[in-house]
Parts: sequence; C-alpha cells; structure tokens
Amino acid sequence: MKLIVVANWKCNPVTQIEAERLFDTAKKGVINVKNVEIVICPPFLYIPSLITQSSPLTFGAQDCFYEQSGAYTGGVSPVMLKEICFEYVIIGHSERRYYFCETDEMINKKLLAVLKARLKPIFCVGEKEGEEINLVVKEQIEKGLKDINKAKIENLVIAYEPVWAVGTGNPCNPDAAMRATLFIRQTLSRIYNRKVAEGIPVLYGGSVNSKIAVDYIKEAKMNGLLVGGASLDAGEFIKIVKQISEF
Ligand code: PGA
Repeated sequence: MKLIVVANWKCNPVTQIEAERLFDTAKKGVINVKNVEIVICPPFLYIPSLITQSSPLTFGAQDCFYEQSGAYTGGVSPVMLKEICFEYVIIGHSERRYYFCETDEMINKKLLAVLKARLKPIFCVGEKEGEEINLVVKEQIEKGLKDINKAKIENLVIAYEPVWAVGTGNPCNPDAAMRATLFIRQTLSRIYNRKVAEGIPVLYGGSVNSKIAVDYIKEAKMNGLLVGGASLDAGEFIKIVKQISEF
C-alpha cells in the first residue's frame, strides 16, 4: 500500500501569494519523491492559481456538502470537486464537528455522496481528552459508515486523529496510535471483513512534526499522516515527506 501524506492547510494562509509560495516551495522539495502520495488540501479559493502549476501533487478538499447541486447557500458538492481537480476530501474533521456542529449523521451523508462521486474520503475519527476511545471511535465508524457496503468503500481512507492531539503540540505516542489502529481495523472487520479492513489505509493526525513522523510508519505501522500546522512550514513538511519516503 502506497503511503499517503496529507497537508491540511485549514483556513491558511491569508493571501494568495503566500499560498502560491507555500505550494511552490513544497512542490519543489518533494518533486523526486515517488513512493508517497502527497495530498495538498488548501482553502478552495486558492485552487485556480495552484492548479495552473504542473505538479505531481494531488489535491484534496477540506470538506464538502452532501447534495450534488441545488439551493444550499455556501455548499460545494462532491461532483463539483471531482469536476475541478480534487481526488480526496477530508470528512468529519474534529474542527468541522466542533465549530460547524457536524453530526455523525451528516458525516454519513457526506461519505455516501463522496464515494458515489468516486472521490476518496479521508474520514477522521478520534476521541476527546478523557473519552473512552473504544466507545467513541466505534460509534463514529459505525454511524459514519452506515449503509455503505463493501462494494462502495474501495476509495475509503481513515484518519485517526485524537482530538486532544490536534493543534496542541502534543502528539499521540506511536504505541497508542498503533493500538488505536488495531481497534479501528477490528471495528472495520466486524462491519465488512478482515480482508477488506486490512485494505483500508489508516493515517495518523495530530501535532505531527518531523521529529516523530516516521515513528507512526515504522513503529505504529500506519499507512500515512495527516499533517496540519507543520504543513504550513514548507521546510518542515518536506522533511516529513522525505523521512517517510526513505523509511
Ligand atoms: P495539527 O492538525 O497537525 O496541526 O495538529 C492536524 C489536523 O487537524 O488534521
């Protein structure tokens, strides 16, 4: 399975010129990396200026709505994303769940719509501080994947992102991330079967930096990373990608 590194720029940077510079520098730094799929998720607005640059990088959206078109002010649909240039979409990020009040039911509709449009959803799950991972993550997965049968999930990617680790500078230790991955795979095995579960990439996200990045691949045997803050520093992002690719 090819490793995946996703750069989630969130609501950054503030100007187009900075976005172009960040993209260009990151692109030049990783141009020779062949064995890692690199997915850049910028704010939608910057896409027109970034897709003009030919590049080996793939684009991901940070969210989308679940209807195809219609009277949904502010909505961007999976079909539109597919039409432009996106291959991936982050769905159910903890910041979307918190600031935009997204529920498991909404996330399920989004996953259904994204898979139907043949995009690759990066479905984020993770517990808050003090929550029981086995209860929370199980419920997020079961509700998020409701009515999604195994014929539909070949494009599914899961990101384990413990909420307490996201944007806090306090990454989850690789041992705990490995246990979480095993639990996620067991839950997926129960819904589908073991073979299907093993074929679904599971990424780690939450305060990833270049000092610890490779441990999630080497020790925790995860299939890639979802990088937030560190992806806004091109030098740091390049280091993370290169370390993963050399492992
Ligand atoms: P972070 O964000 O790396 O800044 O913690 C990760 C994410 O939100 O996906």
